[in-house]
Amino acid sequence: MARVFLTCRVFPEEVARLRDAGHSVEMRDAAEPIGRDELLLRVKDVEGLVCLLSDRIDAAVITSGERLRIIANLGVGTDNVDVPTARAKGIVVTNTPGALTEATADLSFALLLAAARRLVEADAYTRSGAFRSWELLPPHLGLDVHGKTLGIVGMGRIGTAVARRGRRGFDMPILYHNRHQNEEAERDLWARFVSFEELLRESDFVCVHAPLSRETHHLFDRDAFRRMKNTAILVNVARGPIVDEEALVWALEQGEIAGAGLDVYEREPAVHPGLVALHDRVVLAPHIGSATAETRRGLARIAVANVLAVLAGDASLNPVA
Ligand code: GLV
Repeated sequence: MARVFLTCRVFPEEVARLRDAGHSVEMRDAAEPIGRDELLLRVKDVEGLVCLLSDRIDAAVITSGERLRIIANLGVGTDNVDVPTARAKGIVVTNTPGALTEATADLSFALLLAAARRLVEADAYTRSGAFRSWELLPPHLGLDVHGKTLGIVGMGRIGTAVARRGRRGFDMPILYHNRHQNEEAERDLWARFVSFEELLRESDFVCVHAPLSRETHHLFDRDAFRRMKNTAILVNVARGPIVDEEALVWALEQGEIAGAGLDVYEREPAVHPGLVALHDRVVLAPHIGSATAETRRGLARIAVANVLAVLAGDASLNPVA
């Protein structure tokens, strides 16, 4: 029997699976995120940790968890976990790839469409009672999506799923920039591998689906925005710090780009006040890429399956490389 600590509420059937396997489960039952002191204390005697991507699992937390064998992150990005330190201590880190690909791609496309067609502004206008007649040139004139060029930065699972929606649903030519060529996307979606500069120059919509790393931190800075079309829309459902928010606010205010659809922020949960103040073609969501009932269930199921495997002495299902 092992002890497992969950930093958040998860579905009862997953807690039951852990208990049925004989483990002792402590689940934090609070709406607000776990504080650092509490986290340091609660990892002390546990073998398994199930955590959120908003929990900072740094070297101090990992060192405090003297008995830890597995850190199961609920989400695909693991930039919140000090993976090298965990690995050096023989602790397995797992994530939940696959489960959230389609839901996150759906949200990326929803933000793209909402920003291009100014859906949030149009909704507010309709509710305000301002809609009095059909106009040829309404105040919320949008931008076409179909047939426009879609640029994907980060052509992994989610990037490819977004490209599929663009190509098959909206007849969009696909450009992509990635660490490696994605031959499947080139063959199936006629996606073209280009430099970052070419992608910025040629794309009407730029969707970010790369992991956060030293290389991608502030990849989108003033220089990148200057290179984009003035009519372009940026969508980021990956990680906030890939975009320099100060530069993004500047680019939107100066008309360097036309709009943005964002699900992630540089200093989450804080949102840059400059973004909050911008309404035209700027749509903001609170990091809900994987937030559908089915997908969140899937995330919990995978995280618990990884904990069960490692605590049973088996290989984990989704080790982070
Ligand atoms: C969400 O942002 C995730 O990494 O799963």
